[in-house]
Amino acid sequence: MKALILAGGMGTRLRPLTLSTPKPLLPLLDRPMVMHIIDSLPAEVDTVVLAVSYMKDLLEGYFLKHDCGRKVVLVNEEEPLGTGGAVRNVRQYLDGTFLCFNGDIISLLDLNDMLAFHRRHGGIGTLALWRVQDPSAFGVVGLEGARITVFQEKPAPGEAISDLINAGVYVFEPELLEHIPPGVVSLERQVFPNVLDRGLYGYRFDGHWVDCGTPAGYLEAQRALLERGRTKVAPAIVRGSELIGPNYIDGASLSGCRVGPFVCALPGASIGEGSTVEGSVLMEGATIGRGCTVRACLLGPGTVVKDGSALQGRALAPLRGRQAGLH
Ligand code: GTP
Repeated sequence: MKALILAGGMGTRLRPLTLSTPKPLLPLLDRPMVMHIIDSLPAEVDTVVLAVSYMKDLLEGYFLKHDCGRKVVLVNEEEPLGTGGAVRNVRQYLDGTFLCFNGDIISLLDLNDMLAFHRRHGGIGTLALWRVQDPSAFGVVGLEGARITVFQEKPAPGEAISDLINAGVYVFEPELLEHIPPGVVSLERQVFPNVLDRGLYGYRFDGHWVDCGTPAGYLEAQRALLERGRTKVAPAIVRGSELIGPNYIDGASLSGCRVGPFVCALPGASIGEGSTVEGSVLMEGATIGRGCTVRACLLGPGTVVKDGSALQGRALAPLRGRQAGLH
């Protein structure tokens, strides 16, 4: 079986981090975001097709260096074709029922159970559906029994037809490809509403789901993984520091600081005397000086936070010699 991962988006909501790293390669604890999806695939998936475009060379480089136990095929779009165009663009690599993912989703979905559900219902596709309190930022789905009858894109508060949203994980029959026109096409807006009569089903699941495409989602996914026990405490140097778990500290240097909970600090990162860091990511080589307070921040590789800084809810990355930031 093939699994298709849509990994060609520009990740604008995670800028400036995504100006130097494509979103699928941003680290979530010990591995890039996209590897959390690949590692969760059922055993019957032998080939992963990645639909790439933005910063495809970095993705290619990563998969040349890392064996993920399955055949990986990268298919490029010269210009991003949208989620539907990307599926059409890889059609020669697909045969039979296939899985399809947005490349920035972390979930506890049982893919084997979803595949069994899809086979039982026999439609052209099955969409994983996640229940949220406020669906106004999402694609909302209306059901009759298990069958999807209507889509609603980002409804105004109070006008949502249900609290179930499209979770960006799908099972499709190859017949779906016949319903995707050439060019730039959105799966969600232009394809799904046109194939309702062919049988689109909604698979609800519980447990956990996060869209890591925003700074808040990224940090929520990290927190969820840490709460599930994906912790590590292996600093390179630790001098008189207080660690409040859970954290993922791998090869970072900590001196007289207070770290945690929910901090990920990767090799070469460092935190100086008298600093407090909570709920944040320090990618490789990110440096926090002395006397800083850093909360809910994403610090890209090599970011430097100057002594005495107070940062909350920021995404920062060094950019062509200077530092870029997003509030
Ligand atoms: P934003 O710019 O922050 O909205 O992020 P994004 O570009 O990743 O868009 P979005 O989060 O809506 O995309 C959902 C998934 O589809 C992500 O995994 C993207 O990589 C992927 N995606 C979006 N547009 C394209 C595209 O044109 N081509 C391909 N191959 N993938 C895409």
